[in-house]
Amino acid sequence: MRLTVIGCGYVGLVTGACLAAAGHEVFCTDIDGKRIDQLKAGKIPIYEEHLDEVLKGAVAEKKISYTADTGEAIRAGEVIFICVGTPPKDNGEADLSAIDHVARQIAQEAITPKLVVEKSTVPALTGMQLQKALAAYSHGGKVNFQVASNPEFLREGTAVADFFHPDRIVVGVEDEDSAAKMREIYAPILERKFHCPIHPEKCPKDYTGELLITTINSAELIKHASNSFLALKISYANVIADLCERIGANVEEVTHAMGLDPRIGTQFLKAGLGFGGFCFPKDIQAFIHLSSTVGIDFEMLKAAERVNKQRIDRYFEKIHKALWVIKGKRVAVLGLAFKANTDDIRFAPALEVIRRLLDEGAEVTATDPEAISRTRPHFPNVTYYQDPYQALKDVDAALVCTEWKIFRALDWERAGKLMARRLVIDGRNLYSPQHMLELGFDYYSFGRK
Ligand code: UGA
Repeated sequence: MRLTVIGCGYVGLVTGACLAAAGHEVFCTDIDGKRIDQLKAGKIPIYEEHLDEVLKGAVAEKKISYTADTGEAIRAGEVIFICVGTPPKDNGEADLSAIDHVARQIAQEAITPKLVVEKSTVPALTGMQLQKALAAYSHGGKVNFQVASNPEFLREGTAVADFFHPDRIVVGVEDEDSAAKMREIYAPILERKFHCPIHPEKCPKDYTGELLITTINSAELIKHASNSFLALKISYANVIADLCERIGANVEEVTHAMGLDPRIGTQFLKAGLGFGGFCFPKDIQAFIHLSSTVGIDFEMLKAAERVNKQRIDRYFEKIHKALWVIKGKRVAVLGLAFKANTDDIRFAPALEVIRRLLDEGAEVTATDPEAISRTRPHFPNVTYYQDPYQALKDVDAALVCTEWKIFRALDWERAGKLMARRLVIDGRNLYSPQHMLELGFDYYSFGRK
């Protein structure tokens, strides 16, 4: 099928690349002409595992193309995926102006019927507004627009793997014709008719994704309800960690045992600095806001958000306890990205940690495998090193803020010899407290002795 993708951020690019790899003909466009030029030159503007090879394969097969001419892209596709950003406003509400702008473009540029799919994360009832906007902006034109909601459940860093091996594909539609089109689009994914970059031989059988057809309102709600639930789980584990510290228990023992109950599950119970990124913090706010507009006070989500914000305070309690005075201390921040395997620093806890360290007069060095160039403009006074051992040279403390594999595998015996003081304050519980003690480190983490 001929598909258009509007918005070449990580969701748009992964969606476009994977659907092209699944045999569709994909036309990508973005308001940022420079981004399109970059893509045409074969440069991927974001770091996302496997995206490079999937895109290159799709370009070679002539299944994907990029254009800065939005009208041309809109006319090319039978189905249009809207993948533009929906950032939070100051009051937590999602800013839908980019969606509104795209709706106007589609209404004005389309000359044949289109199925317009919301892929961006949007609050419930957006589909209804989108349908109205398309009708209004086309000034009663003859083109017929259908709307669908197809929320994504892609995790940054494993987005390509997630797209190819979904546990569910949610499609919200209002008519059978739209449902049939969406089924056709996703059939090659569900039937495994694509070249998988993760399993070149064959994808394991246990990937049995399901396509769920719902109403548009339900589909929109499923996305926010899922992300908010995961955020709740993390905040719950973080409160348990605080309790463990007071009581003298070990949060990992507690959450592991809890998670063995299949009704709870082991995932998203990792205590530490809390959740960041461009999804959970903004989605939770948007969900609270949406709920309040329809008269529901989503108290427990507010608590989850509050707990998450307090993680940085809790971290600084540990830093103060360990370092006493921060002013004049040299400190290494290990990890800038909001989580491992991405260069995304949006709402990354590490950034708030750096801001507070600098405010308190610390001298900061920092390292991250992928996110240094994105961070540098925000904190030009920090000294950045690609090599973690260089960042650790002569520091009074190492602060671990992201769970990168290379940090997990650091040789702390070697690092200890470089540091001015053997002190690690671990915001991601990466190391064994016993092992760090044996190496002569003063070691702090969350919810463990
Ligand atoms: C999240 C969801 O997991 C995806 O399903 C969803 O599609 C996506 O948002 C989205 O809405 O686009 P993502 O933001 O990429 O994906 O990251 P996650 O892997 O979910 O992690 C979110 C944050 O929670 C990270 O800062 C991570 O370090 C933190 N986290 C995660 C914890 O603190 N503890 C955990 O146990 C798990």
